[in-house]
Formats: sequence, C-alpha cells, structure tokens
Amino acid sequence: MSTVIRNGTIVTADLSYKADVLVENGVIAEIGKGPAGDTELDATGCFVMPGGIDPHTHLEMPFMGTYSTDDFESGTRAALAGGTTMVVDFALPSPDQGLLDALQMWDNKSTRANCDYSFHMAITWWGERVFNEMETVVRERGINTFKHFMAYKGALMVNDDEMYASFQRLAELGGIALVHAENGDVVAELSAKLLAEGNTGPEAHAYSRPPQVEGEATNRAIMIADMAGVPLYVVHTSCEESHEAIRRARMQGKRVWGEPLIQHLTLDESEYLNPDWDHAARRVMSPPFRNKKHQDSLWAGLQSGSLSVVATDHCAFTTDQKRYGVGDFTKIPNGTGGLEDRMPMLWSQGVNTGRLTPNEFVAVTSTNIAKILNCYPKKGAVLVGADADLVVWDPEKEKTISAATQQSAIDYNVFEGQKVKGLPRFTLTRGHVAVHDGEMRTQEGHGKFVARDANGPVNRALSSWKELTAPRPVQRSGIPATGV
Ligand code: URP
Ligand code: ZN
Ligand code: ZN
Ligand code: ZN
Repeated sequence: MSTVIRNGTIVTADLSYKADVLVENGVIAEIGKGPAGDTELDATGCFVMPGGIDPHTHLEMPFMGTYSTDDFESGTRAALAGGTTMVVDFALPSPDQGLLDALQMWDNKSTRANCDYSFHMAITWWGERVFNEMETVVRERGINTFKHFMAYKGALMVNDDEMYASFQRLAELGGIALVHAENGDVVAELSAKLLAEGNTGPEAHAYSRPPQVEGEATNRAIMIADMAGVPLYVVHTSCEESHEAIRRARMQGKRVWGEPLIQHLTLDESEYLNPDWDHAARRVMSPPFRNKKHQDSLWAGLQSGSLSVVATDHCAFTTDQKRYGVGDFTKIPNGTGGLEDRMPMLWSQGVNTGRLTPNEFVAVTSTNIAKILNCYPKKGAVLVGADADLVVWDPEKEKTISAATQQSAIDYNVFEGQKVKGLPRFTLTRGHVAVHDGEMRTQEGHGKFVARDANGPVNRALSSWKELTAPRPVQRSGIPATGV
C-alpha cells in the first residue's frame, strides 16, 4: 500500500522545492517528479513539511491531587489534528518509586497513542536506586533526557546537591539534563506571604513566580551543568531573564538550549486579571504568562537562534479540576493545553507576520527538536528512508480556534477566539493519513515508541570548569605541626 503526495512544495529546515513524495510501508520511498502510488493526496498550493514534534507533554499525569485530563488517545489525536506527529512525554516517578517502575506505567498508558511518541525520564528524588537505574534507562530503554524540577517544593523538587549528582551521572552516560527552572524555595515563600495577605485568587499564582525566580534558577542550572559537563535543555523558557542566561551561555560555547512555549509567545499576563475566576484559573501554569517585553524577547530568540524549539507543555485540566483551587491559588492544578494549536498559532503569528520563514518554522517545530533529542533523521526530516510523519500544510486554510471543535477532552481552550491562517490539509503518521481534509481518521494504538540513543562523545558538553581546573595537591616543603 503506497501513497503519493502530489504537486506540493517540500519545505524542510534547509530547503524549499517542488517535488512529489512517495510513501511506502510507513517511510519515504522516493522524492521526485511523478512517482506512482496506490492512492494520491493532492498537495496543490500546499507545503509538505516534516510533521511537528512536541518535546514537552504531560498526558494522563498524576499531578497536584488529580490527573491531567488528556491521555495518550485524546492528546495524540489533538496533536495530529494540528499537524504534530510525535510527542515526548515525561515519565514521572512518585516519591521512592524506581525509574523503571514509573516507565512501566508510562508504557501501559501510551499503548493508546495515535502517533509516535518518546519519553523523558524525570528525576524526582535521589538515591542509589535512581543512580543505578539511570544506566538501564539510557542504555536499554532508549531514553537519554532527564528532567529536574527546581520548583514544586515538597513534591517534585530536587535540591542542588541532588541535581549536581544527577547531572554528573548523565555526563557519564551521554544523556541530556532538562530543567524546570524556577527557584522553588522563593516561590514557596512568596506563595505563603501572598496567601497570608489575602491574595487567594489565580492572579496571585503569577505574582508568586516573577521572572526573577526563573532567571535565577536558569543561571544556577547552567552553572551546575557546566561543572558537571552535561548538555542542558531548559524547558518552558518564558522570560528575558532566563533567555538572557541561555543566550550568554550559548555565546560562551556552552551546550544549552531553550524551549519557549506557544502559550508564552502568544498570550500575556493580562489573562490573570480577567474578572472571571474560571478564565484566569484555566490559564494558571508554571511559569505564568508574561508581559510583551518578555514575549518580544522570546520571538527574538527564535529569530536569532538563541532559542531552539517551540513546545506546548500540554498538561490539560478541566474547569472542575481547576476549581480545586478556589480560595487557595496554590491548589489550582498547574497546566494548560496547546497540542492542537501550536503549529497553526506559530504559523499565524510567526510566519504570516514575517517573523519566521517557513524553513525556520520547520526548524523550531520539528527538525531542531529531532536533532537535540537524537531521533533525526528518522523524525524531523523529509528524506528517503525517514518515517513518513508528514504534514501537508495549507497556508490559505483558516479557522477560529474554539473548544467546541477541538480534539482535546477539556471543556475550554486558552486560545479560544484566535483566528489562525495555515492549517493541515493532511497529516500522515508513518504513512497513515490521520487527518484528511479536516476529517479525523486516527487509529488508536498506531503510535510506536521512538527509542533515542545516548549522545556520542562529539555531542557532549565541554565543561569550562572541570577540564581546566582539575584539582591537584600543591607540593610544599614546610608543613607546620598542628596544635602548637
Ligand atoms: O504548569 C505546568 N507547566 N504544568 C506541567 C508541569 C510542568 O511544570 O511542566
Ligand atoms: Zn515544568
Ligand atoms: Zn511540563
Ligand atoms: Zn480528500
């Protein structure tokens, strides 16, 4: 069974050119003029791009007393509807749970995925068991990325000694350290003070997490990663303070990447001042939405290359779940959706405005991610032999985003009412046409796990500290006697 995508313009991170694409057995078999296939997809007027990769999702995740509502079925269906063909979710061990036990839970949940997926492992506590199991996770399970929460004190947060130990272990194993960079101690202090002063509403969530807590943690993580000699990937980079640290580190030759979210690029802090409690609470996430100065910084980072990837951090809670936090903003489950909207929103506000070229769009939604995560060119490429994870993108197709028509299982959409221009005509997941002229043809369980090897020595980070200041004792002639 073969499919040919006819009359489109192929757009990759490097090139745009007219050619047809023949897909056989789930992979790209031929790129050129006029190959024949059993079925034809008409891409006239469209761009044929690598499907989006969202490197940051939380599907059916136990968090803050509940579970995020989109699971691997509805979450990956939403992804495909918006042109995303692979998600990377976080396997999150509960306190004292082993890494491999947590992975087993994620293996079980992900059998329902409609598109391919991979996992990051979270380090939520530290001990010999974690140290030992990390090797199995990297070498036998194909997971080379490990997230550390510097926030969520008393729950997921790890301290600096634990983080440093884990970073050193990752440096040995050829892994990449991920960080949620917010100073959890300061957030806890600010939250307690705000509550004591009667600030109980969702706006106080934003007050409790100013850009400084993110900037401080980003700088700290960069320095600790440098001392360990491990590459560092900063998730949900939302502000200039954090971006500045990443930019500086990159200019110093440190291997550091930043990941802004589509929400932070396009929605701002005024959402929290909305008089409707539900409206504001639905937008509570960490870090919170920022002002225009920070948004401009993030866009500039994507344009200049100091920020590498656009993700969603899709972690969707219903309005009822958000209401756990009525009377105490610290109990509002943190997270927002975006899987279906990332590509159309970024195209509309990035490409249609002239901020990004179509090739840069492909880079930040797919190719850069595949390279960092070590699954390129299986993913993130339009090349013979690559998986046929493709989106046939119609730059003229328009819609108004609405919860009424979305795939996500929650009852609202943070982008409600936004007009987008640029949407998938077809989305293919390993050759299967999952979206066909707006009609959903997903297959539950079609998605397969994508294993990602550890980085070889060429991809590892140099440490500006470890290599250059190797400690050694000084030879001295006169050593004074003690206690005299
Ligand atoms: O608010 C957020 N971001 N929720 C999801 C968990 C996380 O911190 O990434
Ligand atoms: Zn996070
Ligand atoms: Zn997250
Ligand atoms: Zn058709």
